[in-house]
Amino acid sequence: MDLFEFEARDLFEQHGVPVLAGATATTAEQARAAAEIVGANSGGVTVVKAQVKTGGRGKAGGVKVAKNAAEAHAYAEQILGMDIKGHTVKTVMIAQGARIAQEYYFALLLDRANRSYLAMCSKEGGMDIETLAHEHPEKLAKVAVDPNVGIDEAAAQEIVAAAGFEPEIGAQIVPVLMSLWKVYRDEDATLVEVNPLVLSEDGQIIALDGKVSLDGNAGFRHPDHEKFVDHSKTDPLEVLAIERDLNYVKLDGDVGIIGNGAGLVMSTLDVVAYAGEEFSHADGSHPKPANFLDIGGGANAEVMANGLDVIFEDKQVKAVLVNVFGGITACDAVADGIVQAYEILKSHGKAPKPLVVRLDGNNAEEGRRILDEAALPLLERVDTMDGAARRVAELAAHVN
Ligand SMILES: Nc1ncnc2c1ncn2[C@@H]1O[C@H](COP(=O)(O)OP(=O)(O)OP(=O)(O)O)[C@@H](O)[C@H]1O
Ligand SMILES: [Mg+2]
Repeated sequence: MDLFEFEARDLFEQHGVPVLAGATATTAEQARAAAEIVGANSGGVTVVKAQVKTGGRGKAGGVKVAKNAAEAHAYAEQILGMDIKGHTVKTVMIAQGARIAQEYYFALLLDRANRSYLAMCSKEGGMDIETLAHEHPEKLAKVAVDPNVGIDEAAAQEIVAAAGFEPEIGAQIVPVLMSLWKVYRDEDATLVEVNPLVLSEDGQIIALDGKVSLDGNAGFRHPDHEKFVDHSKTDPLEVLAIERDLNYVKLDGDVGIIGNGAGLVMSTLDVVAYAGEEFSHADGSHPKPANFLDIGGGANAEVMANGLDVIFEDKQVKAVLVNVFGGITACDAVADGIVQAYEILKSHGKAPKPLVVRLDGNNAEEGRRILDEAALPLLERVDTMDGAARRVAELAAHVN
């Protein structure tokens, strides 16, 4: 999960990383008011910064220095609503203006290949760091960070030495790197990047920009990270699925997919996409998977009903494929689940959509018998995965 700069700034502050005052605004008027306060300690000078989760904001015109509150108002008006690499600016941060003597670069990230963390540091930070990394890789120091130790004083010293800092400046940067390590470890981050880390004219080291990615898998350790989740970006069907504890990802096709086990669901998506090539809608497009939904091992009636309900709610879905390979949960239990799910949905006044079911594996015979006996409306049984995929694509192509 990527954070906005202002969120990264707040985390930095909590962990003792030196930052400047900053406030967010969603209107130019708010920006003016924020600039009055934030600029109080910098002679009225503030920087109006687009808050979007992409790099290169400065180069796109999304970072402007304002000499006073009226200018902050004008720049906010200009930057709010701006499109930066496909991201619309809805919020700006009004940051206290810094007098910059030098711009440095620091990043700490997860190095999967080496099963360790990697610190990157350079005396030449700023907006052209990508070019520097490309054309002068020797100027970007890379130092492995032992996950069991982290960035202690010795490790921080090693990093600043590798980057070639003069001892005096290096000594000032060391405690900042140790604080950035605390952000990384205590918040379960996978990336902490500061570009630029500046030396101000009055000799302070300050993090002027921050990019932080948090590890969503560690979310259970951080109930406070919930506030960083950007619900405006989440599809309403995904929100519904999260509420029901379903492992669901919305895609943009028209064939609903339910399976048990992530691997089986992934291959079902492939097989349906492939089978869809054979059929066409009136506009020439082909049936395609509408979602990923893994109902896991315990495919009981409630889970099945919840899954079918979310998929039926998807207006784009024209037909649904249930592809289950019975293992620990036998096919008869899954079939019972489908039958009961129909009852549950019916009692809620919800109409089913064409449904193709393929059951195989543990107790498949019994599961098929249960479905045949129930004779549910719009439900068809096909016994092979390819056959079921083909049939559901055909149904999707013919339903209006
Ligand atoms: N508070 C500030 N005071 C003075 N100058 C600033 C301030 N914040 C940013 N700047 C200047 O603006 C430049 C760009 O700002 P910043 O690094 O935040 O955006 P960016 O690097 O363009 O965005 P991104 O990191 O998303 O690519 C900085 O390199 C710095 O020179
Ligand atoms: Mg930057």
